[in-house]
Amino acid sequence: MTDNSFFPVKPEIAATAHVNADAYARMYEQSVKDPEGFWGEQGKRLDWIKPYSKVKDVNFHDDVHIRWFHDGTLNVSANCIDRHLATRGDQTAILFEGDDPGVSKAITYRELHEKVSRLANVLKKNGVKKGDRVTIYLPMIPEAAYAMLACTRIGAIHSIVFGGFSPDSLKDRIVDCDSHFVITSDEGLRGGRKVPLKANADKAVAGAPMVKHVLVVKHTGGDVAWTAGRDLWYHEEMESVSADCPPEEMSAEDPLFILYTSGSTGKPKGVLHTTGGYLVYASMTHQYVFDYKDGEVYWCTADVGWVTGHSYIVYGPLANGATTLMFEGIPTYPDVLRFWQVIDKHKVNIFYTAPTAIRSLMREGEGPVKKTSRASLRVLGSVGEPINPEAWMWYYNVVGDARCPIVDTWWQTETGGILITPLVGAIGQKPGSATKPFFGVQPVVVDNEGQILEGETEGNLCIADAWPGMMRTVYGDHERFVQTYFSTFPGKYFTGDGCRRDADGYYWITGRVDDVINVSGHRMGTAEVESALVAHPKVAEAAVVGYPHDLKGQGIYAYVTLNAGEAPTEELRKELVAWVRKEIGPIASPDLIQWAPGLPKTRSGKIMRRILRKIAANEHDSLGDTSTLADPGVVTDLIDNRMNNA
Ligand code: PRX
Repeated sequence: MTDNSFFPVKPEIAATAHVNADAYARMYEQSVKDPEGFWGEQGKRLDWIKPYSKVKDVNFHDDVHIRWFHDGTLNVSANCIDRHLATRGDQTAILFEGDDPGVSKAITYRELHEKVSRLANVLKKNGVKKGDRVTIYLPMIPEAAYAMLACTRIGAIHSIVFGGFSPDSLKDRIVDCDSHFVITSDEGLRGGRKVPLKANADKAVAGAPMVKHVLVVKHTGGDVAWTAGRDLWYHEEMESVSADCPPEEMSAEDPLFILYTSGSTGKPKGVLHTTGGYLVYASMTHQYVFDYKDGEVYWCTADVGWVTGHSYIVYGPLANGATTLMFEGIPTYPDVLRFWQVIDKHKVNIFYTAPTAIRSLMREGEGPVKKTSRASLRVLGSVGEPINPEAWMWYYNVVGDARCPIVDTWWQTETGGILITPLVGAIGQKPGSATKPFFGVQPVVVDNEGQILEGETEGNLCIADAWPGMMRTVYGDHERFVQTYFSTFPGKYFTGDGCRRDADGYYWITGRVDDVINVSGHRMGTAEVESALVAHPKVAEAAVVGYPHDLKGQGIYAYVTLNAGEAPTEELRKELVAWVRKEIGPIASPDLIQWAPGLPKTRSGKIMRRILRKIAANEHDSLGDTSTLADPGVVTDLIDNRMNNA
């Protein structure tokens, strides 16, 4: 596969798309030459309580400030629900497909309005006020969307913690944003297995004394421990309040949500998104990137615990009055036909998933896919990690029957919405390339010294100017925001990704250039895994890197030095894997642990990760400059004892 494989936009698709090639060129030019005019117009896609007169107020230098539409006021839940009631009150807003294939349910916009209003009143009744932080730790059930929207209705800031995170990770996130209210369920259900969410929340809250209430959705009916006075049943509370809750008037720059994400150093940081710009951007990208048309059924398979679930299961689709499918389960339960059967069952038109899911289903061959029709599909999407051309071709030919364009969407928790992507009716695709920037997005490729590289090139990916959906700060730590994103290449937003730009101006994301790894589309900081490992009483030192993994994209490779006198046994290896799962969650489990009598360090004691990455990737013929190593013998030992991915 080379850069030359090209899938042009089919004329019949361009003819009916929201944006064709000419419109893209014209709109893109306006968006970068006249951002005020362009976004001033686009902002009107929302209902504003008080219209904005200011559009953009941004400074990427010094202390960095980013404001969009900032003198306007609006309410997110009113935009996602109330304004649709007159025209589509009886249309399905959320289509729920349970883990168990026998369970599904359609929630109309009118029902959504009632649930969200009631839940908003439950929050108020229990002391949650505008600006307060509410932590949501729920499975993929409609109540997760109700909870998000209920927060927005009263101006509370939600912080969703993915249900796969451990009690400790949950606790850290509750404490960091000083959240007094937690919403969870008795248990989650994934692939037929129960996840003890309430029990995890109990452990977390034991270390988070600020929590006053835990609201519990009865989902599986499993037994739970109960703390009287603190714990509240969702179904009882919902009955005790009125179904009328007028939406709170919020400023465009009031915080909307916090979402914790991993960086190259330290603990996960609370990425803060605000109200107006975020929703304009989520709604616009959802409509234009997927070419969403009224009445279509749209399915994004992400979890609401990640940013993809925020922007492209809940906020973007509901702002556009779409029918959005929420799936509780996994692609392989009860068997590998599940995705394709759900597509047929609900006549899904737009399907958005992650390369890791595609690769794991591709292993099963064409057989299972071909047992299903998938005739309703019109557009396919990919997100979360680079998609390898082989997986792209399989997705295109086998899943989409060579009929559906694929939008390979590159973006990040920080960016709020999609930044680089094909538009269905405007941009031809090359397998493996995220292609071209969305409106208002100005990618620049820079070398390590920050020099801007022109034309066909490869380097670090930065964005030169702001777009409305970008994060505004790290919650409670603006200095960390400035340091993390604006100090490496001053005056530009640094993405942490490397990329290549080809002769046609197409962007190819090559992966992270920092100490963040991407495991099955889940983002993990190597420093977090290291600190979990060294917290084990037998571990003296640890260094963690990513390595190429056929299914997961990247796997987690840990070099561990034990305390003197500790024996490196198979049991201990298993114990350490279990330890990290318990400390952080299953997504952080090391795939390979190599015992390292010593780690390669410079004479000043800095671990040379570049070398560790090369050894893990089995590329020890190209270690690069090793002259600064304090003890070259360490490297020889590590190479000789490298673990195999067997
Ligand atoms: O490395 C890029 C990769 O995922 C990172 C962002 O992870 P997260 O904040 O968890 O958000 C994931 C969902 C938006 C990026 O820095 N990434 C995401 N999408 C792609 C991608 N890499 C290549 N191609 C993509 N389409």
